[in-house]
Amino acid sequence: MKLRDIPTPALVVDVNAMERNIRRMAEFFADRPCKVRPHFKAHKTPAIARRQLAAGSCTGLTCATVGEAEVVVAEDLTDDLLIANEVVGPGKAARVAKLAARADVKVAVDSHAALDDLAQAACAEGVEVGVLVDVNVGLPRCGIAPGEPALELAKLVAATEGVRLRGLMGYEGHVVAIEDRAEREARTAKAMGRLLDTAGMVRAAGLPCEIVSAGGTGTYDITGRMDGVTEIQAGSYVLMDTAYAKLDIPFELAFSVLGTVLSRPKPELCAADSGHKACTMDHGNPSVKGIEGASVLFLSDEHATISLPAESTLAVGDRIELWPSHIDPTINLHDILFAVDGEEVVEIWPITARGYLEHRASEILRGVGG
Ligand SMILES: Cc1ncc(COP(=O)(O)O)c(C=O)c1O
Repeated sequence: MKLRDIPTPALVVDVNAMERNIRRMAEFFADRPCKVRPHFKAHKTPAIARRQLAAGSCTGLTCATVGEAEVVVAEDLTDDLLIANEVVGPGKAARVAKLAARADVKVAVDSHAALDDLAQAACAEGVEVGVLVDVNVGLPRCGIAPGEPALELAKLVAATEGVRLRGLMGYEGHVVAIEDRAEREARTAKAMGRLLDTAGMVRAAGLPCEIVSAGGTGTYDITGRMDGVTEIQAGSYVLMDTAYAKLDIPFELAFSVLGTVLSRPKPELCAADSGHKACTMDHGNPSVKGIEGASVLFLSDEHATISLPAESTLAVGDRIELWPSHIDPTINLHDILFAVDGEEVVEIWPITARGYLEHRASEILRGVGG
């Protein structure tokens, strides 16, 4: 199959650029005590995760949801996984406990309620679930306050049957996208100081803290150099997006939304079939790949309205590629990825963990013996 034969809209991965991104990340961590735990939520695609793990320098995989973790186990991608997110809601702790019978599962916890739920489910299943106390390092989202509150929660975890304290996590998502490196470094140091000081307090209290997990694509080479951080949860680096491409990091844009020109109503305008049902715009409009002077004016449900240089020869039926501004939610809109090498489609990968897997858990769980 050729690129020109792909029905659109479709997601296209440049396999060579992706492989270079994977290699660069693996090489950065090869000789360091810190490793990478690639975030599966970025692409939700087992074929990509397999390549990340095969490249080395990985501790395992990171997931954002129980559904993603179920796919990781069902696909036998790794037996070392972290759900770097709070597990709360009907049936979720029980599903984690089932996974813990098959793999070394760790879960981020920031509340007594989530801890109780997890411990009860683990005891009922006769397993032990690993816990990382989720510390708020400045991102106004989840995480218990650093210092004493986190230490108290760590003590409670250590004293609770069914769970095992493995360490801490703290995601500095409020600083990963800062374009100015000096500012990004300074603010990352401040955020990670909160996490590392708390880790020191946990160890001083005689508690285990073998894992200190943090970091994203924008901070992999800042947080990843800090003494005491054991792993980086980066995900976007593998395929990238235009928001991260503004940063001084060595990863290439490796995926695009392929569309077809539906209309060229004026010389300086075209409409393609890659609207916001095919490409999210929460980080801004996508960019046009490979046409000098072209830009996206706006996306509507089914259309991308694109400004073109009037001399462009682009005609109805021609292809046009957009570089998304945000990888994770764009991938989540699609079922498959077309892996291409130049004009050749070399593989087609299912985006197995896309969508709300919670609503088809029983189907996925059959794969993990549930
Ligand atoms: C908890 C957590 N860890 C790590 C990441 C890193 O992802 P990225 O590679 O996109 O910076 C994210 C992204 O949102 C996240 O939510």
